[in-house]
Amino acid sequence: MALHRFLIIVLSLGLLGSVVESIGVNWGTQATHKLPPKIIVELLKDNGINKVKLFDADQSTMGALAGSGIEVMVAIPNDQLATMNSYDSAKQWVKRNITRYMFTGGVNIKYVAVGNEPFLASYNNSFLNTTFPALQNIQNAIIEAGFGDTIKATVPLNADVYNSPASNSVPSAGRWRSDISDLMTSIVQFLNKNNAPFTVNIYPFLSLYADDNFPVNFAFFDGGSQPIVDNGVQYTNVFDANFDTLVAALKASGFGDMPILVGEVGWPTDGDKNANIGYAQRFYAGLLKRVALKQGTPVRSTLPEIYLFGLIDEDAKSVAPGNFERHWGIFRYDGQPKFPMDLSGQGQNVFLVPAKNVEYLPKKWCVFNPNAKDLSKLGDNIDFACTFSDCTALGYGSSCGGLDTQGNASYAFNMYFQTQNQKEMSCVFEGLAMLTTQNASQGQCNYIVQILSSSWSLRPSFMALMVFWGLIAFHLFC
Ligand SMILES: *[C@@H]1O[C@H](CO)[C@@H](O)[C@H](O)[C@H]1NC(C)=O
Ligand SMILES: *[C@@H]1O[C@H](CO)[C@@H](O)[C@H](O)[C@H]1NC(C)=O
Ligand SMILES: *[C@@H]1O[C@H](CO)[C@@H](O)[C@H](O)[C@H]1NC(C)=O
Ligand SMILES: *[C@@H]1O[C@H](CO)[C@@H](O)[C@H](O)[C@H]1NC(C)=O
Ligand SMILES: *[C@@H]1O[C@H](CO)[C@@H](O)[C@H](O)[C@H]1NC(C)=O
Repeated sequence: MALHRFLIIVLSLGLLGSVVESIGVNWGTQATHKLPPKIIVELLKDNGINKVKLFDADQSTMGALAGSGIEVMVAIPNDQLATMNSYDSAKQWVKRNITRYMFTGGVNIKYVAVGNEPFLASYNNSFLNTTFPALQNIQNAIIEAGFGDTIKATVPLNADVYNSPASNSVPSAGRWRSDISDLMTSIVQFLNKNNAPFTVNIYPFLSLYADDNFPVNFAFFDGGSQPIVDNGVQYTNVFDANFDTLVAALKASGFGDMPILVGEVGWPTDGDKNANIGYAQRFYAGLLKRVALKQGTPVRSTLPEIYLFGLIDEDAKSVAPGNFERHWGIFRYDGQPKFPMDLSGQGQNVFLVPAKNVEYLPKKWCVFNPNAKDLSKLGDNIDFACTFSDCTALGYGSSCGGLDTQGNASYAFNMYFQTQNQKEMSCVFEGLAMLTTQNASQGQCNYIVQILSSSWSLRPSFMALMVFWGLIAFHLFC
């Protein structure tokens, strides 16, 4: 009996350890106020997250990751793909962003992401000619540098590089998108030759966002939807159906067993009627449970390597795809967890460990001044505030979507004020705004106080320097 209980404990500890091991996260940095990389690395460690996918190879990020043991995917942004078509440039890149960190106590680099969803239809074929040569050059340069066995180059692709025909829209009919079929075949041949994985980003949220008739339950892992039946295989969620469509496309190219890495998967919490805490919590609970069970898809039973998207909200991301873009974090902008999430997949009602030692600006807010007389310029001032700060929570169905005009104005003014590091001059708005030390939050709409951010606090001194040099120049030339 005692032995039995002991075994159960050991087994479940083993399970816990291995669960967390297979989950990675995407660490994006398109925020006006970034948490210091050291705080983020601590946050990852505190939560047992030991894999991270980056969107560049920024020195401060890499410096913070050094010695942590965390597995890292570094990246080459799309706008550098053309440069990497020169083998010399690729070698230079590998030297500066890989070799440099490959020492004992350095960075545990496992992958290089060459581009980010370069074949997305909305990029109008801009990266069609440059991606594959860049992939070849980078992998070859890695091999030449002596790291070919441990570091693999891959291309994170959007799930729109494959599909099944409208006439037979089942996973087993999956093929490469017809306009890039030859290119995709060349890419997977090269990946296969180098034992590199195929990387794909899969977004059930976007299926729901794109189509009002999409069956909601099919976006989640907990069943309740009418299954799609494909040669006797039942699909009850879009993630599996999508993943197996890729497996079919790979198989049709002759690489049905190629390892697949899910580069991004997640659910946003604001900025759309389907982007909310409840749905995000449900989505992750289902996903993490499967990770815990090491359960793959109907066609590919082994669990793929998975990277959640994303770690932290990014208030400076483009909202071209939708307002939800700035709300993908499992943590808020300040490293606070948003909802209960059990990374061990045991479904316990626990929160992630929050970021430690986060420094905030003072508890001050900028709000609409109820004594303002002339309201004729209110609209213009709200527009101005929202052009230079993040008002995506104000939209329909979002966390601040129910405010009245004054609440809207306060929200917008405060976001601008916080983005400007609470500079007093940024809370004027032609007399329509005023400062307050009273928390202006209303219901579930949080009027935030920003964090202290090194990248922004540098600005005033940079400005002072400019003024200083300006004065010198003035004296020299006048
Ligand atoms: C690679 O390293 C160089 C030199 O440190 C740096 O300027 C560049 O931004 C890095 N590349 C990326 C994609 O981060
Ligand atoms: C793609 O083409 C559309 C329509 O011509 C244009 O509006 C858009 O800006 C283009 N996008 C890129 C990334 O070039
Ligand atoms: C890619 O190459 C093709 C064929 O050489 C050419 O027609 C096309 O303009 C190129 N596309 C870009 C974006 O450079
Ligand atoms: C508040 O702002 C949002 C976003 O700009 C807008 O859609 C909404 O109509 C505004 N509501 C009121 C009452 O002004
Ligand atoms: C302001 O109030 C909201 C809602 O009560 C709360 O969640 C938030 O933490 C408060 N903000 C600060 C800076 O105290």
